[in-house]
Amino acid sequence: MDWGMRNRIQRMFRGDRGNTVMLAVDHGYFMGPTRRLENPAATIRPLLPYADALALTRGVLRTSVPPATDTPMVLRVSGGATVLKEDLSHEAITTSVQEALRLNCSAVALSVFVGAPHEHDSLVNLARLVDDGEAAGLPVMAITAVGKELEKRDARYLALACRVSAELGAHLVKTYYCDDFEKVVEGCPVPIVVAGGPKLDSDRAALELAANAIRLGAHGIDMGRNIWQSDHPVAMLKALRAIVHEKADADAALGILAAERSRGRTATTPAAA
Ligand code: R5P
Repeated sequence: MDWGMRNRIQRMFRGDRGNTVMLAVDHGYFMGPTRRLENPAATIRPLLPYADALALTRGVLRTSVPPATDTPMVLRVSGGATVLKEDLSHEAITTSVQEALRLNCSAVALSVFVGAPHEHDSLVNLARLVDDGEAAGLPVMAITAVGKELEKRDARYLALACRVSAELGAHLVKTYYCDDFEKVVEGCPVPIVVAGGPKLDSDRAALELAANAIRLGAHGIDMGRNIWQSDHPVAMLKALRAIVHEKADADAALGILAAERSRGRTATTPAAA
């Protein structure tokens, strides 16, 4: 791997363990103005200092992130479908590698839809993006998307989707946490980060998900709704950092969350629910 590629990866995956706390704010590309991400700049502003990387589209990057930031950007480059259609898998590459370089991004990301109607197109998109990314020294993160079929998130399916992504050359894979998650990690020869999925019932549930994922071999999180839809987003992000970078368990992370809340430093809920 060339120095440029390694440098881009290591600027995102930090510390002794080479882990990352990526903040996902790319939901609008198919969901529109998602709750508490209606105004991306307002959501991102208080969270940016605590993220190792930001995952977003070029539209949100250009309009809603201060150009003076040092935080690495992971640019979503696939799209073309919205929640208004039943089949979310009909995606193409919507942003070029040249554009990602022009925007000074640290990686590009696209969804792969294994087992969906447009499985083939999404996998070929991945392989071609890896060719372009390799030529430019830009890492590619495959996102094992399940569209509206959230029940697909089991170890058998996710292990297959992650492995196929790695075999086609993805440098990083984002997937979901699931029972028997260690089987997903074991079968995937590149680093895995986990998404949070729709907002869980409690902050504790989200912290437990992250702690279990890290304990079983994930190299970090790429989480959105369970952070910025929390009533205490900055405190949540700090608690997640302790899990990802300091091996904190869910109870210790909950202690950090409570301490941050009691200090009253986290009244930063971005927008009304
Ligand atoms: C889909 O919108 C994106 O891939 C998200 O970045 C991903 O699902 C992570 O966000 P969340 O934790 O909200 O699921």
